[in-house]
Amino acid sequence: MFTVNLSGQVALVTGAGRGIGRAIAQGLADSGAVVAINDIDAASATMTAGIVQGEASVYPADVSDSAAVDRMIEKIVAEHGRLDIIINNAGVEPRASILEMTDADWHSAMNVNLSAAFYTSRAGGRVMKARGSGVIVNIASIAGHNIPIALRSGYVASKAGMIGFTRECAREFAAYGIRVNAVCPGVIETEMTAHLRQNVAQMQKWLEDIPQKRLGIPEDVVGLVLFLCSDASRYLTGQAINIDGGKVML
Ligand SMILES: NC(=O)c1ccc[n+]([C@@H]2O[C@H](COP(=O)([O-])OP(=O)(O)OC[C@H]3O[C@@H](n4cnc5c(N)ncnc54)[C@H](O)[C@@H]3O)[C@@H](O)[C@H]2O)c1
Repeated sequence: MFTVNLSGQVALVTGAGRGIGRAIAQGLADSGAVVAINDIDAASATMTAGIVQGEASVYPADVSDSAAVDRMIEKIVAEHGRLDIIINNAGVEPRASILEMTDADWHSAMNVNLSAAFYTSRAGGRVMKARGSGVIVNIASIAGHNIPIALRSGYVASKAGMIGFTRECAREFAAYGIRVNAVCPGVIETEMTAHLRQNVAQMQKWLEDIPQKRLGIPEDVVGLVLFLCSDASRYLTGQAINIDGGKVML
């Protein structure tokens, strides 16, 4: 596994109870960071903390609740003395046509996939600004880059919004020594995409459009995230980078 040296740094990963977030938490811990593992599901967050090799603490919270995010970041800083890295990974993918979608589904996509990144960036950005350094990585999606996915209007809109927010956040936070980038995965084999993989015909068609001819696995995303967290990417900010086996070439 690719690693960088993040010793002494404290990293928050939201939605790290499983899937891509869990793999990122593992990669950060392997790189020497102290990892604050968030998930709305306390049991899965605790399971991740048990799996990762290295120092990890659990911070269960609903990241779509701004007061809960403020409390979580306050607690991380109280317990670890600093916060250097935020990975905004928590996500939901409500599926419905626009004509059938409920307000609750629409708002869950907006609140978990987009507003949460604003809440953590606001609270965490204040902590990072005081130190004069920090890194934020937003897990968006190729869906935010004009890749149509049927019945996912809320998801697509939230991920496009995440890319826009990443740019504005990068512009504002550069003055404080904070870099902000987005990572845009293609289809990665996690519970979120289990239903997609069950549709063999649809999967076959999707694979035809991927030059590398395979879906991603969570570990495929980790190296890029670690690179973005490290000084190797010190002149890189405000970007939204696809990681998708070559499906999208901008
Ligand atoms: N899997 C893919 O193909 C894919 C592709 C592109 C982007 N992404 C994005 O990557 C991120 C991770 O996706 P995944 O595939 O690992 O999904 P997943 O469903 O396997 O995991 C998502 C995690 O987020 C947590 N979560 C949900 N709502 C939360 C909330 N309000 N507060 C805190 N935690 C919450 C869940 O409990 C879960 O542990 C998401 O933002 C997703 O949109 C995934």
